[in-house]
Amino acid sequence: MLKHLKSNDKPIYDLLKAEEKRQHEGLELIPSENYVSSAVLEALGTIFTNKYSEGYPGKRYYGGQMNIDPLETLAIERAKKLFNADHANVQPLSGAPANLAVYFAWMEPGDTILGMDLSHGGHLTHGDPRTAAARVFNFIRYKIKDIETGEIDYDQMRDLAKKHKPKIVLAGFSAYPRELDYAKIASIANEVGAIAMMDMAHIAGLIAAKQLKNPFDFGFHVVTSTTHKTLRGPRGGLILSKGIVSNPLSPVEKKIENIPTLIDRSVFPGLQGGPHDNVTAAKAVAFKEAASPQFKIYAKQILKNAKRLSEQLMKKGFKLVTNGTDNHLMLVDMITSFNVSGLQAERVYDAIGLTLNKNMIPDDQRKPFSPSGIRLGTPAITTRGMKEKDMDQIAEWMYKAITHKDDEKYLNKLHKEVIIYCKNFPLPSDF
Ligand SMILES: Cc1ncc(COP(=O)(O)O)c(C=O)c1O
Repeated sequence: MLKHLKSNDKPIYDLLKAEEKRQHEGLELIPSENYVSSAVLEALGTIFTNKYSEGYPGKRYYGGQMNIDPLETLAIERAKKLFNADHANVQPLSGAPANLAVYFAWMEPGDTILGMDLSHGGHLTHGDPRTAAARVFNFIRYKIKDIETGEIDYDQMRDLAKKHKPKIVLAGFSAYPRELDYAKIASIANEVGAIAMMDMAHIAGLIAAKQLKNPFDFGFHVVTSTTHKTLRGPRGGLILSKGIVSNPLSPVEKKIENIPTLIDRSVFPGLQGGPHDNVTAAKAVAFKEAASPQFKIYAKQILKNAKRLSEQLMKKGFKLVTNGTDNHLMLVDMITSFNVSGLQAERVYDAIGLTLNKNMIPDDQRKPFSPSGIRLGTPAITTRGMKEKDMDQIAEWMYKAITHKDDEKYLNKLHKEVIIYCKNFPLPSDF
């Protein structure tokens, strides 16, 4: 294995080996990360990467598509079935370009999007002023009403929608631990003539496995995603939609039923060039895996583990934003809990081999690089086979480490324990 890489490019080979060791010996608690299967990994490393295929199946600008067309069609059909969509575009290179493609498909420069406030759980691509999208479109933000329960302020959402007349009402998050009221969001969008869009990047695997609600069941028009988080596929993006699918090479009127074609045209040639066909292959493999009974068991266990970990942490004095979780992630207010910043906590946990990330909490008074919170989740450790009792152990390490944060010797001892523990939980690529 890897004999060519080893002999042709030793520095890259060595870095790969070091990363392999890090992934084996540490506990990955970043909620947006996961470990792909060997089949996904194999598909990624194939000669599909050699091909150019600008366009869509049956409508390409280059020859030699006799294998790529059925490949992309299979990926599309699997994605549609998995999420109950009329159309799937599997070409977005990642989550950020997927969102951008929808914005440009449906809006004109200066138009308004109503999305979730960043510090309340929304994502950068939902309107952070530093993004390219924020230079073109006008982003308005809704927030959580009650930080103790996490309930979104749907009255505020409706008031803002009526006032600002957005073209898109955007749901979705990267740091919000609760379920959404999709019916309410869709009705607010309908009231003001906007489309309802969900960015399910974080919870796509949980929706695919029917463990969380599917926004399409409540009248949503568009759902975007990454394919590499709970969905456990390769790094990439995905756009699903309801509507009529027509020839992507022919212009269509900007009507709700034409959203699939507007999106296709926005992805290519609007924003991207040729799709990455090796990634398309790996996405197709991941969609098949996500439709399996084993994946449903996996998704259920992610939720059980997150619930158990959150309960154990709260018992030990960790203050969780919204006091728990309904999904795979949790947000901890480390200042209130232990008077330690998110940055300090991230470093302490790095020192014992627990990887998680510093994160803003709602209306955080601190700066993004040293916020009040940390964010953690269970998708990756569940892939390694961990169950509820392992969550008790993780909570114990987290408590011990943070209460001995300046004791290097003690932290080293905990780190050794983590390394030994991890040996019992192989990565899927070891199977
Ligand atoms: C909700 C959400 N949308 C979009 C993205 C962007 O995805 P990518 O990093 O693949 O561009 C993320 C990434 O974390 C996310 O959490």
